[in-house]
Amino acid sequence: MSKRQISLRGKDILGLEMMTVPEIEVILETACQMKGIIDRDIKKVPTLRGKSIVNLFFEASTRTRTSFELAGKYLGADVVNITASASSVTKGESLRDTLYTVEAMGVDVIVMRHEAEGAAQYAANVASPVIINAGDGAHEHPTQGLLDMFTMKEVKGKLDGLKVAIVGDIFHSRVARSNIWGLLKMGAEVHLAGPKTLMPYYIQEVGVHVHNRVEEALEGADVVNVLRIQRERQHKGLFPSAREYARIFGINQARLDLAKPDALIMHPGPMNRGLEISPDVAYGDQSVIQEQVKNGLAIRMAALFLVLTGGKNIETTA
Ligand code: NCD
Repeated sequence: MSKRQISLRGKDILGLEMMTVPEIEVILETACQMKGIIDRDIKKVPTLRGKSIVNLFFEASTRTRTSFELAGKYLGADVVNITASASSVTKGESLRDTLYTVEAMGVDVIVMRHEAEGAAQYAANVASPVIINAGDGAHEHPTQGLLDMFTMKEVKGKLDGLKVAIVGDIFHSRVARSNIWGLLKMGAEVHLAGPKTLMPYYIQEVGVHVHNRVEEALEGADVVNVLRIQRERQHKGLFPSAREYARIFGINQARLDLAKPDALIMHPGPMNRGLEISPDVAYGDQSVIQEQVKNGLAIRMAALFLVLTGGKNIETTA
C-alpha cells in the first residue's frame, strides 16, 4: 500500500494495535508539518474552520485535554470540553446517552477519555462522529504512543533498531500498551522492567523482552520511557512501599548511566518525582519530557487534520 493511498478521513483512532505502519507514518510525517505552525507567532490557520470537536473526559487530564483543545483551535475548529464531574453523568446519565447528546449537536469528532477498557470502541460502535481514544482504562492511549515515537524519531532519526526500555507500572499503563504496539510495528526492540506484580503475565508473547531487574532493561538503551505508578488503578498494595519502589526501580542518574550516553529520558506525565524518576534525571540534559508535551500538540493537530480532511494541503493563512 503506497502512502498516497492512505487516508484516515472519517476513521476512528482507537489504538495502535489496529493501526497499520503506513497510517502511523502518515501521522508522524503530518505532525512534522504541524510543528511548523506551532512555532509561528500567529498560530491560527483556517484548515478546520466549520468543524467541531468535543473533548469528552471522564478521567483527569492536563496535557492530553489541553493539547487536543489547542490543536483543534490552532487549526480553526470549534472545540468544546465536557468534563464528567461537571456534566449530566453526575445525574446518572449513561455513556450511551451522553454520546447521543453530543452527536445530536452535529459534532464531527469526539475525543474521549474513560476509565473503562474498550470504552472508545463502544463509542465508535454507537455514535457517528469520529472517535479519537484519549485513553481507555489500562488499554490504549494511541496519540501518546504516537507522540512518544515522534519524539524518539525526531532526535534519533529513526525507530527501526532502537532499543527502548519501558520501566514501571506496565500492568496499568495504556501508555505502555500503545508504545509497545507502535514501536514493535516500527521495528524497535522493546525491553520492559517493573515489579512482577505490575507486569502482565502474557506480555512476552507479543514480542517484547521482559526483565525482572531494571538494570538489565536499561543496559545499552537508546530510550528510557518511565511510567507513572498508577495508584488510582491499584486496588491493593502491589508493591511494599513507595520508598522500596524508588530504591529498586526508580530511575536515577546511576541507573541511567547504564543506558547509552546519549539515551533519551521520557515520561508521559504527570510524574511522581522522587518515586519512579529522580528530579535530577527528570530535568537533566537527557530529558525530552518537555519536548514530548510540544510534540503531543503536533501529533493531535495531525490526527484531527487527517481524520477530518484525509490530508489535503494545509491552508496556512487565516
Ligand atoms: C497518561 C495517561 O493519562 O494515560 N498521561 C498522559 O496522557 N499524559 C499517563 C499517566 O496518567 O500516567
